[in-house]
Amino acid sequence: MSSPRLSPPAALAGPDFLWGVATASFQIEGAWATDGRLPCIWGTFCNTPGKILNGDTGEFACDHYHRYAQDVDLMAELGVDAYRLSTAWGRVMDEQGKPNHKGLDFYKRLLDRLQEKGIQRWVTLYHWDLPQYLEDRGGWLNRDTAYRFAEYADLMSRELAGRVDGWMTLNEPWCSAFLGYGNGHHAPGKANIAYVRPAMHHLLLGHGLALPALKANDPGAKRGIVANVGRGTSDSAAPEDQDAAMLYEVQHNNWVLDPLLKGHYPKALERLWPESRPLVLEGDMATISQPMDFLGINYYFRTNVRSDGKDGFVDTPLADVERTQMGWEVHPQGLQDLLVGFKAQYGDKLPPIYITENGMASDDAVGADGQVHDTQRISFLNRHFEALAGAKAKGVDIRGYFCWSLMDNFEWAFGYERRFGLVHVDYETQKRTPKDSALQLKEFLAARG
Ligand code: NOJ
Repeated sequence: MSSPRLSPPAALAGPDFLWGVATASFQIEGAWATDGRLPCIWGTFCNTPGKILNGDTGEFACDHYHRYAQDVDLMAELGVDAYRLSTAWGRVMDEQGKPNHKGLDFYKRLLDRLQEKGIQRWVTLYHWDLPQYLEDRGGWLNRDTAYRFAEYADLMSRELAGRVDGWMTLNEPWCSAFLGYGNGHHAPGKANIAYVRPAMHHLLLGHGLALPALKANDPGAKRGIVANVGRGTSDSAAPEDQDAAMLYEVQHNNWVLDPLLKGHYPKALERLWPESRPLVLEGDMATISQPMDFLGINYYFRTNVRSDGKDGFVDTPLADVERTQMGWEVHPQGLQDLLVGFKAQYGDKLPPIYITENGMASDDAVGADGQVHDTQRISFLNRHFEALAGAKAKGVDIRGYFCWSLMDNFEWAFGYERRFGLVHVDYETQKRTPKDSALQLKEFLAARG
């Protein structure tokens, strides 16, 4: 069977639209105790039986810590404009806040190699690998963690100044707060709904406290944050079900975006979680809502919901819709609807947008022909590109797109079984094999001229 062709629309093929790939430290680096790297909450979670599918761990992952040069060369081969990576807090700073130069040197070598290859460097400071000693002091439930994060951001932007094109403070604070402290599906595995709003508030406070340091230390770089957003709709027209869909989007989108862009939390959170209240001190909301140069958006799926009969929603999966290996519904229109909706809700306060993650997992394997025919991914990507071009045509300022992910990697609680890469990884041999999607992306990027 011949593959569908990856064909982004002309609206995304201009010289001012950035094309990149994304990864995160814990998911690819491995080497989790090398060169003085401190243990992090995800290491602890991996070592807790029953938390990760198949008992997988991040100990070796894609061994990127040792293979970074070859991985950068692979990106150069593909011809991407930009690479979104994250730095591991516990590699670069010790418990007393002193720099660990071995860890810092790793990131310097990586960033320098990217520059040699002409690839822009987009760096996320916190992609979930909180040092364990900070969790032992309460983690994101402790306001002090926000100040420790600002110190880490200060160190990184002093050390790496001039080597970064775009700084992203946090990746997906919703996941850190809700999955980490609310339902415990992610590290640190705490499960108490009363925790979720304090955790979020301290995450966002950390973001706001970090922004001035990033600007002062590295004025030439852009600064932003990355939010995961979700489309919530209901197949029922009943008012309580439509209200449930609204509540879904408040929880997934406005909980993060309102404080950042409007300087206050949405009122409806009090309906969702009357038992969860953050302690907001004077000045916090002004710190959190400082202007940013861009907003990173991660989009994966739509969720169908109905009312739970109280002030909440329940996921009500639709039958007969296309899904990925994660079980997530493929719904490109949701991306367009959300972006257009954000423009309507936030107006001029909405910064320029980069899609910092989008992509899908499939059960990819290298075939007898030595290739990986990831046809569902190619079709998925094409439809999301169209949706994005549609949002752009409707006036949303979208500057770039990073595919999740450069290569298959450690998919958190799902371990190595879920494959999101454009490049296939054989974890036995660490061989990288570009999938059809990667080869076709390369053709598209080259053809842009
Ligand atoms: C969002 C996260 O940022 C990333 O780490 C994860 O692998 C992808 N989504 C896919 O679940």
